[in-house]
Amino acid sequence: MNYTIIRLTKLEELPKAFECGLIQLYQSVFSEPPYQEYFSDDEISEIFTSYISILGVVLLLAFLDNEVIGFCSAVRFVTKCFDDFELIDKKDTFSSTYLQKSFRLNPEHTWYLDELGVRQDQRGKGLAKHLVKTCLDTLVSTDKNATINILLNTAEENLVAQSLYQKLGFHFVEGEAVNVSQMRQDGNVQKDRRIFMLRIINKEGEIMTMAENKKNYTTEWQLATYLEVEWSDFLFGNTLSDSHEKLLNPRTDRIYPNFYRRIGELAQEWLQKNHSLPVKYLDVGGSTGRTLYEIYNSFPSLAELVLVEPSPKFCKWAQQILIDSEELGYFPIVGNCDKPSYGKAVNRPDPIRLKELYIYEAFAESVPRPANYFDLITCLNVADHHPNPKTLVQTLYDLLSPNGYLIFASPMDFNEIYTPDKERWVSNLNILFPNELWKSIGDNDVFYDFRPHCRKWIRFSSQVVAKQKR
Ligand SMILES: C[S@@+](CC[C@H](N)C(=O)[O-])C[C@H]1O[C@@H](n2cnc3c(N)ncnc32)[C@H](O)[C@@H]1O
Repeated sequence: MNYTIIRLTKLEELPKAFECGLIQLYQSVFSEPPYQEYFSDDEISEIFTSYISILGVVLLLAFLDNEVIGFCSAVRFVTKCFDDFELIDKKDTFSSTYLQKSFRLNPEHTWYLDELGVRQDQRGKGLAKHLVKTCLDTLVSTDKNATINILLNTAEENLVAQSLYQKLGFHFVEGEAVNVSQMRQDGNVQKDRRIFMLRIINKEGEIMTMAENKKNYTTEWQLATYLEVEWSDFLFGNTLSDSHEKLLNPRTDRIYPNFYRRIGELAQEWLQKNHSLPVKYLDVGGSTGRTLYEIYNSFPSLAELVLVEPSPKFCKWAQQILIDSEELGYFPIVGNCDKPSYGKAVNRPDPIRLKELYIYEAFAESVPRPANYFDLITCLNVADHHPNPKTLVQTLYDLLSPNGYLIFASPMDFNEIYTPDKERWVSNLNILFPNELWKSIGDNDVFYDFRPHCRKWIRFSSQVVAKQKR
């Protein structure tokens, strides 16, 4: 198709676009199901005029033979008025504060993909995709922020649009939806339910899958598997109660936290060899806290413990288990297929009585401590859940004090969902640690057992390396 995509930046360019059919195209695109919305000529003219007047908008039009056949626009989140967006529970308004609180996105770094439309006779030829891709490329090249979030919403039933956005690297934002009121073709104002999709792009233009990955660790199902692998010795007690035993059918042995105990032993062995007495310790991607618990019990010298974990659900359990002293109550137990069961915790570990124990819902990239701070960092089985293992190691290097220790592990079970660029997959962790920056202290394989389903046991072999910052 011989079309051209043009970015409009000046008000003077609008009349030509209107002459070339932009208004009619806009009307016809939105009059179609599922939206069936009505817009007058004046409203559309106002919409596009306000686009051009808003600082930093990206407005793209596709022209074919002097006719507009497609449009796409993105606006800075903070300049868009979301008055028509009604949150389902109506407890809040859709605003910058809400974006920060619920989406955990910085509104200053967030763009809203506002409009996308292609003339009916030009569909199915890749123009919509081309328009969105051009829009994303424009955002990457013009927005100076290190990370750019692109948010959009679409009708729940608009599967064609959703599939297109997925192909362009957008992911669904779970648990968020709004009702949007619009005038329909029949003159009535009606609400339709819209869901959100998000793509995060970092400065290099690489897809930042991290925020999306976090979603995988917020399901009850994942929580059940991690609570079992990390805390089954306490939660299930020494003997299984009748109800737990039924849940663990078939009555094979359950998973024990052997991996974490072994990490504690190895860390002790490796650091003692070097006569190291760490004081400040960080666990990155610490899930529900077992690694931190084992390391704390292995090093009486520790005075400050920090756990960072992006999953709010994991953080909540880490807090309950490591810090709070209340009984743990009911917890999810690995069940059938995707549905966990629930059981009451038989026991709990003693809470850690250390004033300087902090749990942050954060990524490795946003640990709230200065550079060169920690004497010891553990980062276990996170590398293969990270878009860029190399930069993860660099981030940890920066956080470590000179001569500080890093214990880093991974089963190298890479997956395109987490690490889309296959070039970044590694099969030996040592590749990530250049000799000029790191001294090797230890290298072991440790089994890591996991029970994702009540009849399925998985055993990984995790390579565990210990490195010292030079
Ligand atoms: C496979 S789990 C490993 C959990 C625990 N460290 C262990 O060894 O059992 C991966 C963990 O990494 C966390 N994670 C993913 N990306 C992260 C990042 N950029 N920074 C910190 N943690 C991250 C996930 O939320 C999840 O809890």
